Amino acid sequence: MSDRIANAQLRSKVMSADEAAQFINHGDTVGMSGFTGAGYPKALPSAIAAKAREIHGRGEDFKIDVFTGASTAPDADGVLAEADAVNYRMPYQSDPIMRNKINAGEMKYQDIHLSHSGLYVEQGFFGKVNAAVIEAVRITEDGNLIPSSAVGNNLEYLEAADRIIIEVNSWQSLDLEGMHDIWSMPKLPNRIPIPINNVGDRIGTTHIQIDTDKVVAVVETDAPDRNAPFKPADEISKQIAGNFLDFLEGEVAAGRLTYDGYIMQSGVGNVPNAVMAGLLDSKFENIQAYTEVIQDGMLDLIDAGKMTVASATSFALSPEYAEKMNAEAKKYREQIVLRPQQISNHPEVIRRVGLIASNGLIEADIYGNINSTHVGGTRVMNGIGGSGDFTRNGYISSFITPSVAKDGAISAIVPFASHIDHTEHDAMVIVSEYGYADLRGLAPRDRVKKMISIAHPDYRPLLEEYYERAAKNKFLQTPHDLATAFDFHVNLAEKGSMKG
Ligand code: COA
Repeated sequence: MSDRIANAQLRSKVMSADEAAQFINHGDTVGMSGFTGAGYPKALPSAIAAKAREIHGRGEDFKIDVFTGASTAPDADGVLAEADAVNYRMPYQSDPIMRNKINAGEMKYQDIHLSHSGLYVEQGFFGKVNAAVIEAVRITEDGNLIPSSAVGNNLEYLEAADRIIIEVNSWQSLDLEGMHDIWSMPKLPNRIPIPINNVGDRIGTTHIQIDTDKVVAVVETDAPDRNAPFKPADEISKQIAGNFLDFLEGEVAAGRLTYDGYIMQSGVGNVPNAVMAGLLDSKFENIQAYTEVIQDGMLDLIDAGKMTVASATSFALSPEYAEKMNAEAKKYREQIVLRPQQISNHPEVIRRVGLIASNGLIEADIYGNINSTHVGGTRVMNGIGGSGDFTRNGYISSFITPSVAKDGAISAIVPFASHIDHTEHDAMVIVSEYGYADLRGLAPRDRVKKMISIAHPDYRPLLEEYYERAAKNKFLQTPHDLATAFDFHVNLAEKGSMKG
């Protein structure tokens, strides 16, 4: 047995994943660790999926509700969805099999702001949490958990659950111990200010204290986190990154930002990684990140001496960089803090530190309303994740996107967004490979020209034509022609291209 389980009471609970799955029953609500392919349980999801298949084979029902920090990986969300083992899922997912089941109406999904999800569990909005399945690096002699590569909503699930199953994963580096900052907020109505004044402030402990009497099983694993490798930055991503940096330079020129100490939040993906690669060669120094995930580009910035500190709730590292983290966690824990997601994404701290938020989108409309979740207004892609937490509360909120998707059949700039999750009241700057639209201080009609200027040239005449028609409306605050507002989307559905 691994010496990672130092507590005698919990050592006596070690069993196989299949044996531990007996504690998960049909109809249970299960809170799992895991956030963007990091820190999720590696064994229980497959064991629960196998149990579901076996029970379905007997013609009986077996489904559970699954809560996590955010998305997980094919060996968690993927296997559970494939086995039809999930009734309801929150707060975020990005698995292709699960996405198809959700969009086919075969399972329910509630897409929730990540900073809200733990709070809602605490307050009982989702009813009882029956079990928590949480990955740890090790269990201390006192029975405390050292979390692994994500903290997420672990605190909330461990506290709310009747039964706890711990997975101790020996693939995770023991040197992660010391990177976490676990601080539990006093519950409503006894809230106090969160005492984080600077990005790297540590306010809590490096372990999670649990009620060991609730632990029904401890499972040993040795399996890697799973994140897809980032694609090397293509020409378009580099142009978008260049335009984002131009925008930052403009802020410096206007006296609103300095080259010293820019604080970033960054969504996950290839374009954000290209932005970080651009920052490597920029004049910006002592960069800080108050964000939700640590990405490859941030480790490069730390290694280059460009980034001084990064606060997040998890890693979203490619396999190569995850290995690098495992080898060098002792060094990185000096500059990286992993917090519970209620804290990493908390509006209070986000507003206080004054960060510049930067996230991806599916489409933006000519007035700056953003759809980052639903293709064609109805088909969910991933979810809002933490983008709402950061966009609403950031000092400056930006979105970065290629001007077209699917080889030009889809324009990222449309007359009317078919679903809106970040409103014109929150989105400030939209960046594409054609430049950036700075919408700050502009009334809706003054935004249109700027938004059309960052659209793909093929779509600009169509957008202009639409606006001319919309401007004939007798109400001119935010002019629309409702009869044709969704022609782009209808064209795509009927003819395969928004161009018609
Ligand atoms: N219609 C249909 N598909 C679209 C689309 C649109 N308007 N815009 C993008 N896509 C597709 C792309 O074609 C691509 O599909 P593929 O994987 O089959 O090639 C996929 O969406 C991803 O798009 P990409 O351009 O590579 O950007 P991305 O990886 O940055 O993803 C979002 C964009 C919006 C899907 C992603 O940023 C997201 O899920 N955002 C919401 C959550 C979030 O912001 N999280 C971070 C918060 S901290």
